[in-house]
Amino acid sequence: MNGLFVTGTDTGVGKTVVTAGIVCALRARGHSVGVAKSVQSGALTLDPEGDAMMLKRWTKVAESPGEIAPFSFAAPLAPSVAAELEDRVVDRAELGDHLRAVASRYDAVVVEGAGGLLVPLGEDWTIADLAHDLALPLVVVARAGLGTVNHSALTVRVARELGLEPRRPRPWAPAPARRRADGGAARPRDRRHHRRRRPRGRLNPPEGGCACLRS
Ligand SMILES: Nc1ncnc2c1ncn2[C@@H]1O[C@H](COP(=O)(O)OP(=O)(O)OP(=O)(O)O)[C@@H](O)[C@H]1O
Ligand SMILES: [Mg+2]
Repeated sequence: MNGLFVTGTDTGVGKTVVTAGIVCALRARGHSVGVAKSVQSGALTLDPEGDAMMLKRWTKVAESPGEIAPFSFAAPLAPSVAAELEDRVVDRAELGDHLRAVASRYDAVVVEGAGGLLVPLGEDWTIADLAHDLALPLVVVARAGLGTVNHSALTVRVARELGLEPRRPRPWAPAPARRRADGGAARPRDRRHHRRRRPRGRLNPPEGGCACLRS
């Protein structure tokens, strides 16, 4: 199985946007790339704001939203809890087989996790176990802002302890402009410093590519 597993330091950090961006960018370079959402909670399959529909809309893959996200639950809770509320379980073998089947149709597949690495998918397994089952390299999406170093370092440390090898974590959203303590504008030297250290996570779409992300 060839591809990437997109996890994050938290929920709402930009995993879906990054997942779609990677698919579009790779496709613009001539690769055939599939996409999947491991487990979706807080939205049913056809919810227009759910990850399955957003990934479908942005990447325009042939798969239906139900194929993109084979397990969707209404409650905005950890997948194992959301599943339990519907008297269902996320079957580990079934999910793995489904994702491998999607991957088999493409050169590579980009799989979005749910929340962060230790989010439970069942009583005895987590998103990290799924990433391990699929043997895909990790992409860690991190929020750009105060606190992100700690969250990113925790995620990377846990990933490595569990035998997963993350790519270098990149803050995703642009950092707010720095202000001097007296409220004035940053000095030119500060601005240069800020430019050098600006987060590099924003994907710059290649010429003619990723138009899907703008729609
Ligand atoms: N670089 C960015 N700049 C501004 N807004 C962003 C950026 N990346 C993501 N967003 C916005 O942040 C919100 C959360 O993004 P997204 O849905 O991709 O997060 P997520 O990590 O996939 O969340 P979930 O855990 O629910 O799957 C969305 O409204 C998205 O449009
Ligand atoms: Mg998402």
